[in-house]
Amino acid sequence: MKSVNKAAQRPASNTDVPLKQRNVKFDWSNTPLDWIPNEPYASYFINEINLILPAGEFWFCRLYNKALPLVTDPKLREDVRGFIKQEAMHARGHSSAIEEYLAARGIKTERNQRLMKWLFEVVLDDQPFGRKMPVWMEKRWLLLRLGLVATIEHMTCVLGMYALQNRKWDELNADEVLLDLIRWHGAEEVEHRCVAFDLYKHLGGDYLSRYYLAAVVVPMIIGLWVDGAAHIAGQDPRFASKKPAVYKPWVWVQWFKASRKQLLPNPLWLVAQQLPYFSPWYDPSKEGSTQLAQDYLKQSPAAMAASAIQAKMRAAA
Ligand SMILES: [Fe+2]
Ligand SMILES: [Fe+2]
Repeated sequence: MKSVNKAAQRPASNTDVPLKQRNVKFDWSNTPLDWIPNEPYASYFINEINLILPAGEFWFCRLYNKALPLVTDPKLREDVRGFIKQEAMHARGHSSAIEEYLAARGIKTERNQRLMKWLFEVVLDDQPFGRKMPVWMEKRWLLLRLGLVATIEHMTCVLGMYALQNRKWDELNADEVLLDLIRWHGAEEVEHRCVAFDLYKHLGGDYLSRYYLAAVVVPMIIGLWVDGAAHIAGQDPRFASKKPAVYKPWVWVQWFKASRKQLLPNPLWLVAQQLPYFSPWYDPSKEGSTQLAQDYLKQSPAAMAASAIQAKMRAAA
């Protein structure tokens, strides 16, 4: 009797919903810096994602456009196209928060944005540090970076589920616009959670490489997040005397304290949530709930406004 190769049975695409771009817009005119009332630390900590994400997500788009011609499975190709459109809109949504909200409230965002741009536009570029890759390395370099995206996308799915399920923010009357931004984004992360992993596997990504890649990337993301949050929180007179920095215990202690109040994910919980990704049997379709994501997208003010405009345009055409 022939043995059945389970890996070969896994379809190239494991996304069962069409990935559509929702052309969202956010009005930042009334969002305060303490968007979770009286919780400045947690507010800054989450606001840092606005500074981390755009450079990375635009880079995802460039990388996926490069990988697209190599995809032979039609359904996966469609997923990758949908993924690119969604990530581009995420980057635009968070960029609007940088310009119209954080910078408009006097927060200096340049240093954190510069760091992310350096990482994604110089280090992780097709030509890292401006050096042309030897031809034999090009595919490997592409695959390594696709593995990196798959690791990040596991984390964004975990964070997306957290944002969809956190009720504490609502109890405390957190700003509805910012909540909608992170929940709309989180919901789409959950919706497209299989694409990066499927693409990595489809183009030949192997288990061992993703294991070592994740072991490096997970602490790096957490470090960058804390470093950036410390930099923007340190600009607030309420925290200036602490001179927050990633290497000082204060920022980490505050993170733990805020997580005990259910304002932020607990750092240890967040690390533990990355463990399934290290398993050889990791399956992103088992992480997160598409139903929960779609339930939110049906009632997200920004997503509803976007589909109303789209419906009007369709009717006028
Ligand atoms: Fe995203
Ligand atoms: Fe994503």
